Amino acid sequence: MSGLANLPAPAWRDELEHQYADLTVTLETVMPCIEVAMHLPWIDAIRQLAALRGAVIMAHSYQAPEIFHGVADVTGDSLGLAQAAAECDADLIVLCGVHFMAESAKILAPEKTVLIPSLEAGCSLASSITAADVRALRMRHPGVPVVSYANTSAAVKAESDAICTSANAVQVVESMDSPKVIFLPDQFLGRHVASLTDVELVLWDGRCEVHEKFTAQQARHAREQFQAQLVAHPECPPDVLAEADFVGSTTAMSQWLERERPERVALITECSMADNLRTRFPATEFIKPCNLCPHMQRITLPSIFEALRDMKHPVEVPADTARAARKALHRMLSVGRRETV
Ligand code: 13P
Ligand code: SF4
Repeated sequence: MSGLANLPAPAWRDELEHQYADLTVTLETVMPCIEVAMHLPWIDAIRQLAALRGAVIMAHSYQAPEIFHGVADVTGDSLGLAQAAAECDADLIVLCGVHFMAESAKILAPEKTVLIPSLEAGCSLASSITAADVRALRMRHPGVPVVSYANTSAAVKAESDAICTSANAVQVVESMDSPKVIFLPDQFLGRHVASLTDVELVLWDGRCEVHEKFTAQQARHAREQFQAQLVAHPECPPDVLAEADFVGSTTAMSQWLERERPERVALITECSMADNLRTRFPATEFIKPCNLCPHMQRITLPSIFEALRDMKHPVEVPADTARAARKALHRMLSVGRRETV
């Protein structure tokens, strides 16, 4: 395998057109054909390298379509990827998503090597709170359990009693069996969860830099101008959620599309989601209010190629942090996925 370090950047070969005919059809529904031709050599090289290394490539639903459709073995929301990492047989996982997702994979599968193709793929929610902040909150609210969103660092998870994602936040909060819960760090998700439960929530002022940008006026415009149904992620501000026909996590949104099969829909969430879902729902017109997550965009085909070629960047979590964070993650996994958010 040492020869892999000298692999040159991949180049176009005519046979790729035939070899990837089906994928080309899929990608051409969301990008111009010239872009597809630029991606195919990288896709082919990544698939070959992944096979040689015995790697499983996991991609979040916010990854660019050439990654989501082109190279991922497993796709999903943050809960789905955490579950897949815990269950997967391969010794090597390449996590195409943001850093907290790769950390969760490593915590749940400590014996595996987990690579993240860019160390700069962070998250505004994860960087909004530290482990010291959680300890200070506990001092202020003695005996109140802490539920942290998956969008947090391993150190914050280690200070938490349980983790949740937007797919199971209400269930995890209610599973704490406490009239009051500290819910961190997304203020908007927290306010949405608080509207669905009798449990009193202590909130933090974290926000997703992508979802906080949507406005109620934009949502009304999508409905009035395009007669679109509105589906919003609970990280959006409350007045945006109030305009939505459906509020749900990444996976709940696609389940809603499956059920409702709307003629026209605006997904008020990260932009790549619409591209990745569009191929599954060809009869639905997607109105794209386009906010891209800059952190998700740091993962590119060349960076995945380099990650596999050079075995970079392996995610490490100190053993005691990992142990405590794993306990909180396992508590979430035992609740599982029961969408009500
Ligand atoms: P999911 O938990 O729905 O995958 O979302 C993660 C995320 O980063 C949302 O912005
Ligand atoms: Fe974080 Fe928002 Fe990007 Fe999701 S979309 S990874 S919450 S910054």
